[in-house]
Amino acid sequence: KKIEKNEIGKIGTQLILKTKKSEIGHILLVGMGESVNVDNLQGLCGVVTQNTELLKAEKIIIHIPKNKKIPNKTIIYTLASALRSADYKFVKYKTKNNKTNEKTIVLAVDGMTVSENMQAVLKLVDKISEGTSEARDLVNLPSNILNPKYLAQKASEIAQNSTRIKVKILDSEQCKKKQMNAYLAVSQGSAEDPYFIHLSYKPKKSNKKIVIIGKGITFDSGGLSLKPSKSMEAMKCDMAGAAAVLGVFSVIEELHPEVEVHGIIAAAENMPSSRAVKPGDIVVASNKKTIEILNTDAEGRLTLADALVYGSKLKPDVMLDLATLTGAAVVALGEEIAAIMSNDAKLAENILKVAKEAGEKMWQLPLEEKYRILLDSEVADLRNISKSSYGGTLTAGLFLQEFVGKDLKWAHIDIAGPDFAERPFSVYTGIGATGYGVSTVLHLILKY
Ligand code: BES
Ligand code: ZN
Ligand code: ZN
Repeated sequence: KKIEKNEIGKIGTQLILKTKKSEIGHILLVGMGESVNVDNLQGLCGVVTQNTELLKAEKIIIHIPKNKKIPNKTIIYTLASALRSADYKFVKYKTKNNKTNEKTIVLAVDGMTVSENMQAVLKLVDKISEGTSEARDLVNLPSNILNPKYLAQKASEIAQNSTRIKVKILDSEQCKKKQMNAYLAVSQGSAEDPYFIHLSYKPKKSNKKIVIIGKGITFDSGGLSLKPSKSMEAMKCDMAGAAAVLGVFSVIEELHPEVEVHGIIAAAENMPSSRAVKPGDIVVASNKKTIEILNTDAEGRLTLADALVYGSKLKPDVMLDLATLTGAAVVALGEEIAAIMSNDAKLAENILKVAKEAGEKMWQLPLEEKYRILLDSEVADLRNISKSSYGGTLTAGLFLQEFVGKDLKWAHIDIAGPDFAERPFSVYTGIGATGYGVSTVLHLILKY
């Protein structure tokens, strides 16, 4: 295609030159726009990966010209992780496997010196990418394979393959004894048994404790408040929070953080049946609060309620939950940005900062007390859906807050948008699971 003069260097423009009599076969020029930034570096990696596959190239040199805007470390981190991400494919159920070819990539950044530090960055990228790919695989697996039991087995496997990670699995009977009735109500209509998963990583020395909770609905049909078919298509992704927790735990030991980390998943499948929970039913959660379940499709908050009560009892310094909780979060921020809400301004600030470093987009929404009355029930302490049809992400956050221990620093991240790409977000992520959250959580743990 002929490139117009005013198009030169524009994002998305590319030109391939074939060289003669040189060890270098092809030169690919990619437009980076006005300046180098994380987004166009990620885009560049997608373009490089696509062309590498087309040309079947085995050796690639990526040259980034001098720039003053971003530190070299960030450039290397961004390039290395985006290249890994662009290479990811979920081919388990493709009978004609399209394997990714092995390749060597040299990253050359003007003004960068070879230093130990960059090796450390690359090692970190290695582990974070491994954890992220693990999460992507889990989310991409369909719900007829990946059920609550599968998640429990995966957690046990992670614990078995490590020395510092332990796992505790509670079956429905044990959950009943702990009075986790909000959680149990969600799975009662399903043929799949629920499993409550508690992973813990304890380093030799630590002076901080973090709890990470992941929403683990292996399929969300909506229950008796059944979803329309279109909205149900991607609902195997409703355990993306749980997948992020498992992704983190699959690599945490090798990163040796000096923080005690607990991972909690209240895994369940949300299905309609004659035994299913019905609109209007009232349950008593494990902190004794009563909930009127008016919409069985607002199931995530019911499972998280008992998980948050459980997590609070561990008395952590920080508690975090990742959940594909509301369609409203996608309406508010689009598909690529997660919503964060917190009862602690400093914690929110901290997480927003590490998310940026991790290359994951996040924006803060308020836990507005004025909206709390929208959750008042005539017959119980709380209703599970708001009386208003607006601000659904905020009222979901306020609902969760009711189950967080007093004075506990907590943040809720609604990942309903960025967990799963129904269209490619950029050339460097294909359609399907993104593994959102693994990178941010690992960055947070390593910074603590
Ligand atoms: N799992 C969904 C939220 C969701 C929507 C995740 C789109 C990913 C993409 C959640 O359980 C749900 O159904 N939420 C309802 C809540 C409503 C009934 C108050 C929603 O957002 O419509
Ligand atoms: Zn739902
Ligand atoms: Zn759900």
